[in-house]
Amino acid sequence: MSGSSPAPQPAARPAPQPAGQKVVDEILEVHDLVRSFGGVRALTGCSFGVERGSITALIGPNGAGKTTLVNVVAGAIRPQGGKVLFDGRDITGRPSHEVALGGLIRTFQISREYPAMTVLENLMVSPQRQAGEKLATVLFRPGKFRAEERAHVQRAVEVLAEFGLYGKRNDYARALSGGQKRLLELARAVMADPKMLVLDEPMAGINPALIERLADHISRLRDERGTTFLMVEHNLDVVEKMCDRAIVMAVGQTLATGTMAELRGNSEVVSAYLTGGVVEVGAKG
Ligand SMILES: Nc1ncnc2c1ncn2[C@@H]1O[C@H](COP(=O)(O)OP(=O)(O)OP(=O)(O)O)[C@@H](O)[C@H]1O
Ligand SMILES: [Mg+2]
Repeated sequence: MSGSSPAPQPAARPAPQPAGQKVVDEILEVHDLVRSFGGVRALTGCSFGVERGSITALIGPNGAGKTTLVNVVAGAIRPQGGKVLFDGRDITGRPSHEVALGGLIRTFQISREYPAMTVLENLMVSPQRQAGEKLATVLFRPGKFRAEERAHVQRAVEVLAEFGLYGKRNDYARALSGGQKRLLELARAVMADPKMLVLDEPMAGINPALIERLADHISRLRDERGTTFLMVEHNLDVVEKMCDRAIVMAVGQTLATGTMAELRGNSEVVSAYLTGGVVEVGAKG
């Protein structure tokens, strides 16, 4: 190397941290997200980070903007302001299939299985697969396609066994109980081998035994695969048991973050849960 050439610059380096502060590896960062629907301001400058490998809860009263946040992060709706960084990349406003291919998969507040397909078939059309299927392979390399298909079925069978759904593999998804549909939705998401799962109320409407099973699966996926979780959850006992920390949203912003023990002592958090609600925009917006 010639002595006069400039020293090579590292491609990316973490932002300098104030002295004495722990450096946190955040797989997801949202900065100042803004989104309105007509006169309703669902996100009013929401910012937070999610630590890689953590199980982080997103809590807050009805209408706080949690699902809107999930929709913006996962590429289902575009923000009107702000930024989303995932695994070091700016994914703001990118479409959901691209976000999924990058390793961020979400599930829905209301389960979205394919009712007229079997449980096994539901896994065969996992989110990332839909995005990544290459028509050229199907048409011009049928042998390769069949081998991939066999491997995919094998993987689906393994995942079903992992989630205790193997015995149901040939049942129509519509015949499953509400709790089993939740398990199926998580199993479908896992088929894509995501780096991060964003779950919108995964425990809603399921019985305590299944809540425990779902919680075990989530903890196991984090421990064994290092999957990061951000989960919207109203059941604070569940949050307390399984989440490392919680982000509290109210009126479209982050009100506080911390462990449940820390948040219980925060009077603002307690009153947000009692008052709730969204900000109505005035006549001039
Ligand atoms: N597509 C939409 N069109 C109009 N208003 C919307 C839309 N989506 C969300 N909102 C409004 O934005 C606000 C935030 O809604 P959001 O669904 O994000 O809240 P949430 O925190 O998920 O609530 P919940 O706990 O009840 O699921 C609410 O007032 C809601 O009515
Ligand atoms: Mg919601």
